[in-house]
Amino acid sequence: MLREWDLRELAEATEYVVSELVANSVLATEAMQWLIRPPVRLWLLSDGAAVLVHVWDAIAAVPQPRAAAPDDENGRGLAIVAALSAQWGHDWSPRGLGGKVTWALITTP
Ligand SMILES: Nc1ncnc2c1ncn2[C@@H]1O[C@H](COP(=O)(O)OP(=O)(O)OP(=O)(O)O)[C@@H](O)[C@H]1O
Ligand SMILES: [Mg+2]
Repeated sequence: MLREWDLRELAEATEYVVSELVANSVLATEAMQWLIRPPVRLWLLSDGAAVLVHVWDAIAAVPQPRAAAPDDENGRGLAIVAALSAQWGHDWSPRGLGGKVTWALITTP
């Protein structure tokens, strides 16, 4: 998609951000018992200058940045997202559909 948008210079940052956000949503979804397990949805949006990543999951709990100790093997995903994004956050899904969207805006440095 980024090649198509002529934004290849944002491809590496976008790959890291998508990977961390999707991994978090998949892990949060798999941590719960479901009759029918809901999907994780990914949207990539662009105005030709920046990339907006949206990741939807069905979980009500929100991303909580952690302070990873030097020896910790986890707890750095959202710090990576914050470092590579101009802004990031989460929003509740509209119209009572449930779940939330975690989003990150990646701009040219
Ligand atoms: N989509 C999400 N839904 C619910 N909780 C989330 C979600 N994303 C993150 N969290 C919470 O925020 C915490 C911090 O996420 P972060 O990605 O920084 O670290 P991690 O996933 O624990 O470890 P790492 O990404 O370094 O493997 C998670 O442990 C989880 O509790
Ligand atoms: Mg993570």
